[in-house]
Amino acid sequence: MAEIICIIGNKGGTGKTTLSHTLSHGLTLLGRRAACVMTDEDREPLSPQGRRYVVADARSPVARNKVVEKLRDLKSWIGVLDGGANRTETDILLYQMSDVVLLPFRDSAEDLRTVMRDLDLLPKAWALPSQWPRNRFQLDAATRLIDTLPLEFRERILPPFFALSSSKLLLQERVPEDLPAQLNNSARAFAKQVLAIFEDPHDDVADALERAALASELNEQD
Ligand SMILES: Nc1ncnc2c1ncn2[C@@H]1O[C@H](COP(=O)(O)OP(=O)(O)OP(=O)(O)O)[C@@H](O)[C@H]1O
Ligand SMILES: [Mg+2]
Repeated sequence: MAEIICIIGNKGGTGKTTLSHTLSHGLTLLGRRAACVMTDEDREPLSPQGRRYVVADARSPVARNKVVEKLRDLKSWIGVLDGGANRTETDILLYQMSDVVLLPFRDSAEDLRTVMRDLDLLPKAWALPSQWPRNRFQLDAATRLIDTLPLEFRERILPPFFALSSSKLLLQERVPEDLPAQLNNSARAFAKQVLAIFEDPHDDVADALERAALASELNEQD
C-alpha cells in the first residue's frame, strides 16, 4: 500500500509547495516512486515535464479522494500532498488521510504562533523549520526563538530544511535537465529524514532522526 505524506499548515508562504516537490524529487533519488499531489485550488498545477516524479492535479475534494484512493492501491509508491494556506478544515481532512504530516514554518514569531496552533490541532504532525537561515547570526536568532517554546512542542520539531535558492528550480513550469548537486543532496537528505519517520513510528523516531541528520551532514561534505 502506498504511503501518504501531507505538507500543510495555516500560514501562507512557508514552503509547502517547494517542500512537496523537493521531497518527491528526493524520494525518487532514493529509488522510491513518488507522486506530488497538488490540492491547492488557488494555484495552477505544474507540468510533469522533466520531473522524476508524477504530478497529480487534485484541487477538488472529489479529485483528491480519487487520487489518494488510487495511490493507496499501488504498492511501494509514496504520495506527497501539497496543502494550501488558510484552510483549516481541508488541513484536517488531509491530516486524516496521511501517515506522516509535516507543518513547515519560517523563523518568525507569527509563524511560530501559527505552527503551535496547528501542532495543538493535529497531534501526530511534525513541525518542520523551513527556508531556515544559514547565516550564523540569523541562525542563532532562529534557534533562540525556538528555545522559547514549551518542551512538548520542541520535541516535535524536525531538523531544518535550509534556505536554498535552487529549490525554486523545481517550481518552474519546466524543470532543467541538470539540477545542481546541492539541490539533489538536500532533497535526498530530506527524503531520508521523512522515511526515518515511517520506519520508526514510535519511540525511536528521535533516534532515527538524529541518525538521518548526521548522515545528511556527512553527505553534504562530499
Ligand atoms: N528552502 C527554501 N529556500 C529558498 N526559498 C524558498 C525555500 N522554500 C520556499 N522558498 C520560496 O518561498 C516562497 C514560498 O514558497 P512556497 O510557494 O513553496 O510556499 P507555500 O507554503 O506553498 O505558499 P502558499 O501558502 O502560497 O501555498 C517561494 O518564493 C519559494 O521559492
Ligand atoms: Mg503552495
